[in-house]
Amino acid sequence: MSEKLKYIPPGRLEKTRYEKLHLAVYREPEKASTDIANAIADLIRAKQKENKTCVLGLATGNTPLNVYKKLIQWHQKEGLSFKNVITFNLDEYFPMAPEDANSYYQYMHSNFFNHIDIDLANTHIPRGDLPQSEILEHCNDYESEIKKAGGIDLQLLGIGQTGHIGFNEPGSHLNSRTRLITLDYLTRRDAAKTFEGFENVPRRAITMGVKTILEARRIFIMAWGENKARIVRKTVEESETEIITASFLQEHTNTTFVLDFQAASELTRFKTPWIVSQVDWDDQKILHAVTWLCGKTNKALLKLSDEDYNQNSLSELISIHGPSYDLNIKMFNKLQHTITGWPGGKPNTDDTNRPERSSPSQKRVIIFSPHPDDDVISMGGSFDRLVTQGHQVHIGYQTSGSVAVTDEDAIRFLEVTLDFNSKQRNPYVEHLIECIKNKNLSPEQFQRVLHLKGTIRKRESLAATRYFGLPDHQVHFLNLPFYETGKAIKNPPSQKDLEIVVEFIDRVKPHQIFAAGDLADPHGTHRVCLNIIFEALSVLKPKPYMKDCWVWLYRGAWEEWELHQIDMAIPMSPDQVLRKRKAIFYHETQKDGAMFQGNDEREFWVRAEDRNRTTAEQYRKMGLAEYAAMEAFKRYYY
Ligand code: F6R
Repeated sequence: MSEKLKYIPPGRLEKTRYEKLHLAVYREPEKASTDIANAIADLIRAKQKENKTCVLGLATGNTPLNVYKKLIQWHQKEGLSFKNVITFNLDEYFPMAPEDANSYYQYMHSNFFNHIDIDLANTHIPRGDLPQSEILEHCNDYESEIKKAGGIDLQLLGIGQTGHIGFNEPGSHLNSRTRLITLDYLTRRDAAKTFEGFENVPRRAITMGVKTILEARRIFIMAWGENKARIVRKTVEESETEIITASFLQEHTNTTFVLDFQAASELTRFKTPWIVSQVDWDDQKILHAVTWLCGKTNKALLKLSDEDYNQNSLSELISIHGPSYDLNIKMFNKLQHTITGWPGGKPNTDDTNRPERSSPSQKRVIIFSPHPDDDVISMGGSFDRLVTQGHQVHIGYQTSGSVAVTDEDAIRFLEVTLDFNSKQRNPYVEHLIECIKNKNLSPEQFQRVLHLKGTIRKRESLAATRYFGLPDHQVHFLNLPFYETGKAIKNPPSQKDLEIVVEFIDRVKPHQIFAAGDLADPHGTHRVCLNIIFEALSVLKPKPYMKDCWVWLYRGAWEEWELHQIDMAIPMSPDQVLRKRKAIFYHETQKDGAMFQGNDEREFWVRAEDRNRTTAEQYRKMGLAEYAAMEAFKRYYY
């Protein structure tokens, strides 16, 4: 087993002082999943040698998918056998027929069981298809089956936004057992994407209890991505509480919380490392510490004193890089130099202390937008300025965004075409409307409707880009194929996706690329889109024009860069804020409870304005100039 996964009682090391669970933190979730799969494979083999069964507790959701993939791969290529394996799944929706595409029964079979040699009689998933009167007995039987199998050797867990393990929602008791529960509102919102609408998500589920889980002999709980970072910190660093049922794992003496960097990013050892360990100071880390200190002391940067540093775990910093007077000025200037009203560089000026180059004064710019609205939501102000300042801006909409258009919107547009041609009946469209209403589209009709939805988003995007004065031929709809499943779950990206992006960049030969550096996208499309761009950059790197191509990352609709991460901040006047708002408004189908909002239910323009205002406010609090709003970018070196 990987050294990293070997259980060590938590909190023994200085840097883990705040941690109440043993952690294994990985740069990439793929490597973490491989190590977990390896630990499982080792256990299965060890049990095989002793002629024993191996009892696994299994989870569903996005998190464990790569673990299952690895195990399948080793079964197919290296003959890893699952003949001695017995499995118990954590949960199932209720009511839920096993054949329903959204059942955990289907998930387990299509993502794991169908591809390995496990005896299906040895697999157990709570039954969502029983009458409610039989559920209690079924739950008791489930517990007995686990006992009969000798208890769970190794339990896999994910963690929900509510801090649930299994479906043990806030309020679940430490001693709870397998039972019927009511799902939390947040959990249902999270599942809305797979069920294609919040109202389709079942209200209840059957889940193993907290006690059932804690009886497993070894537990791996996993979390990937920034949107899990806050709940991870609470689970790991705060006290045990039934409000976050994962925190009960603090009682289990053989649990490892396996995280990627993003999910671990809110932990004290990463967020404010100077509190728990020695820091290898560089300018970036110093700025991080200094901006944090301003927040902590509620003081502007130039007002920080030696005493402030000393009293807040930063005496080491001040002793090496102080006195505070010099350090403050250095950091103040560093922050000041990130601010510019010229996202494409200011022509004919000394650019030594500016974030972008002054020449060429008219740049070719690509703005990549994962969905057809991220450009205006996340960098509408800078987009507007780039165009007004005379740069040749090209927008690359990576996906069609079709699944985020509701059936109601599709019907509305179809009805417009009928009304428009009211003199002539259109039986095809009339029939299509009926089929959408009755939710019984043929595969061909499904594709047509999907195409229609994509077209609606295309037209909305063109309305917004025209508003900013961009000619249509500079707006490119790349329609990456990985996205086109018509469902929330997308295909893995392929060579074709990469080729499309490579060809596009190569055609434009940009001096600047803006891309969504958003790792918090709840359903992963932003992350996939970003990875495709990164891959394209490494393919194109040898090309001579790429030497002059700088890459800037903006955040998507969910998070914002922290002050110390910002390399370029573009201020916006109140008028520009309104222009940006108007551009976002053109994306009409994404208003009023859009399908994939994530946990933040505010409309996109409200969130965007709030973020941009907050960034400006943070700069002001540091003692820099006061602006209405600011958009922020981080430079990416490839
Ligand atoms: C799944 C389960 C849940 C998930 C959790 C995280 O069987 O019981 O606790 O593990 O909701 O879901 P993902 O992995 O989709 O983020």
